[in-house]
Amino acid sequence: MNDMALEACDMPSSNDILLAELELPVRPKWRMLFRRDAPIELEIGIGNGEFIAAMASMRPEHNFIGVEYALHYLRKARNRVVACGLTNVLLIHGEGGTCLSKLFSPSSLSSIYLNFPDPWEKPRHYKRRLVDEPFVCLVASRLCINGTFMMVTDSHSYAMSALELASSINALSPAVGSNGFCVGVPDGFATKYYRKWTAHGRQIYMLRFAKTGYYELPEWVSQHYPLAHLEESLPMPHVIIGGQINDWNIIASSIEVGVWVQQPMLVIKCEEVFIERDGNGLLLSMLCVEGKMQQRFIVRALSRVGETVVQIHPACRLNVTRGIQQSLGVAAQVLMRIANLKQVKRSNLGNAVHRWLGWDVGGTE
Ligand SMILES: C[S@@+](CC[C@H](N)C(=O)[O-])C[C@H]1O[C@@H](n2cnc3c(N)ncnc32)[C@H](O)[C@@H]1O
Repeated sequence: MNDMALEACDMPSSNDILLAELELPVRPKWRMLFRRDAPIELEIGIGNGEFIAAMASMRPEHNFIGVEYALHYLRKARNRVVACGLTNVLLIHGEGGTCLSKLFSPSSLSSIYLNFPDPWEKPRHYKRRLVDEPFVCLVASRLCINGTFMMVTDSHSYAMSALELASSINALSPAVGSNGFCVGVPDGFATKYYRKWTAHGRQIYMLRFAKTGYYELPEWVSQHYPLAHLEESLPMPHVIIGGQINDWNIIASSIEVGVWVQQPMLVIKCEEVFIERDGNGLLLSMLCVEGKMQQRFIVRALSRVGETVVQIHPACRLNVTRGIQQSLGVAAQVLMRIANLKQVKRSNLGNAVHRWLGWDVGGTE
């Protein structure tokens, strides 16, 4: 197999322009997905896709990626892009911050657009806003030099807070031809929400910053966006415990559901316990909250001759993060304690997680 064929192996194979974030690897090879190399412009929260379709028609020499988490909007956007005959657009079903942290390498985007992000106007809801300190750090990291970040909003308080955050990053400066912030918006930005709010007589604000210097993403951003520093997807985690469990009913009835780990940026919870249909294993329904990421998944434990395997159920689609590895490790620990098994034979959770669990694993993979 040549390099291109090898790279294509972990890529979704369909020709659909609509992709799911969960189906994509960490930092996919966009040139494979677009079938060409070109500057990439990203819009987050594309709504019905008017803006991205207009931009992609105006700049056919660029590749455009639109991220949106509402499927009904995405389908409208897909229909629009297909009807316009655009071949330079891909649409991703996913959350904007997660996509920005997972799918793009540092210095890989020539533009990032946010048109009317949900404003969360009440002060007690400000923490739900997409544009906060870790997000602006990600923007600074993922833009290439001279790449621009634009945000349009009708919320004065959101505009001022985003302005303050962007201004606090040395690598971001007001874009050429702007002083970083203006009231009113140039032609070409008349999205559905622009029309809606201007018809109501609301003031519109626009932020325009460019990346003008090198920027190293701070380590702490990974506490909020756990995929931010990964360069490739982590392998599906598994643990092999020495010793066999024969009566899963006894184990299941001894497991206490509830919060197993509660730390400032990490919560691991076991929500339900089931016995496998053939009676030869256990399923744990788990929740892992790590910073802004919340993932539900099933841990499966099953015995084979002389050992017990603890793994993520193969049907689960998730992002393997440090928190997922920790969750699997904690689940294995709970089983070992209840079944009185002492030895972790092999594990691919990595040394940092082994230390966190207090494990001395002979067969680290
Ligand atoms: C107020 S609408 C604006 C739509 C469009 N940009 C416009 O200007 O007409 C906000 C859009 O962003 C999407 N959205 C909000 N937060 C998001 C997030 N964190 N990730 C992805 N999409 C998001 C919503 O589903 C919605 O489609």
